[in-house]
Amino acid sequence: MDLISWNPSFNVDVEVIDKQHQMLVKMINELHDSMLAGKDKDVLLEMINRLSAYAAFHFAREEHYFDIFGYPETELHKKQHSDFELKVSTFENDFTEGRQSLSIEIMNFLSDWLVGHIKGSDKKYAPFLKERGVK
Ligand SMILES: [Fe+2]
Ligand SMILES: [Fe+2]
Repeated sequence: MDLISWNPSFNVDVEVIDKQHQMLVKMINELHDSMLAGKDKDVLLEMINRLSAYAAFHFAREEHYFDIFGYPETELHKKQHSDFELKVSTFENDFTEGRQSLSIEIMNFLSDWLVGHIKGSDKKYAPFLKERGVK
């Protein structure tokens, strides 16, 4: 069973952003499945690396819109992204070095953070971007 099942309440109604969020959900679900299937560390590591790279790409897209349109909550939102990235990169290093393994706690952190961030902070910017013509 998927760790996160996509729910219409996750939509921010900006198509490009919703597609990227769906991709993040898919990547987290695939990582979760691979963990449960007992996949090798190098396979998991590659998936974690791809997930963090895709998250960085996605955050950059949101932040680009904030910067060009002068979104009032830019600083707070960027801080949430960078705090998440720091946690993920710390875990990535620990996992690579063998100090930590992939666990359900880590998976829950990733899924809870993503869903909470989408439904809270990301939904908040959606009307602002839509008013400025972002589709
Ligand atoms: Fe987002
Ligand atoms: Fe965001």
